[in-house]
Amino acid sequence: MAIRKIITPPDPLLREKSLRVTQVDDDVRALIRDMFDTMYAAPGIGLAAVQVGEPLAIIVMDPAGENEEPRPKALINPQIVWKADELREYEEGCLSVPEVYDKVVRPAEVRVRYLDEQGEEREELFRGMEATIVQHEIDHTRGILFVDYLGRLKRERYLKKVIKKARLARP
Ligand code: NI
Repeated sequence: MAIRKIITPPDPLLREKSLRVTQVDDDVRALIRDMFDTMYAAPGIGLAAVQVGEPLAIIVMDPAGENEEPRPKALINPQIVWKADELREYEEGCLSVPEVYDKVVRPAEVRVRYLDEQGEEREELFRGMEATIVQHEIDHTRGILFVDYLGRLKRERYLKKVIKKARLARP
């Protein structure tokens, strides 16, 4: 079990486009295990590899609530192939943007194509909470943060707050 450090702004990696995984091997599966350990320890419901400093197109998620059975899911090279017209609003947060929460509107359902941990291609429909999480995490693989949807003023205010707090916390 390895809990990795989660990066925060102004780390430029958060703005980089993650690289596609060309081979799903034991190194990739070890990274996925670390990502789950890091996500559950935080605690959080989703995490992208870039958030632990590895700019690879890999995301993990678990939408299960506190008293539900865990539903861990890892997606490699995830790609949205269809979006519903219907929208869903949710107050999002992000482990890389700590203590900031705000409402984001996204498609209520998306179909995602990805590779599983065995390297098999899969396609899956995500709805509700799962649709919100998978879109938020796929955004990370493209260098996008949820605060980018909030308009320039809010985005700058939130990012400033995170950067200032990180600076104060440094010993
Ligand atoms: Ni996030």
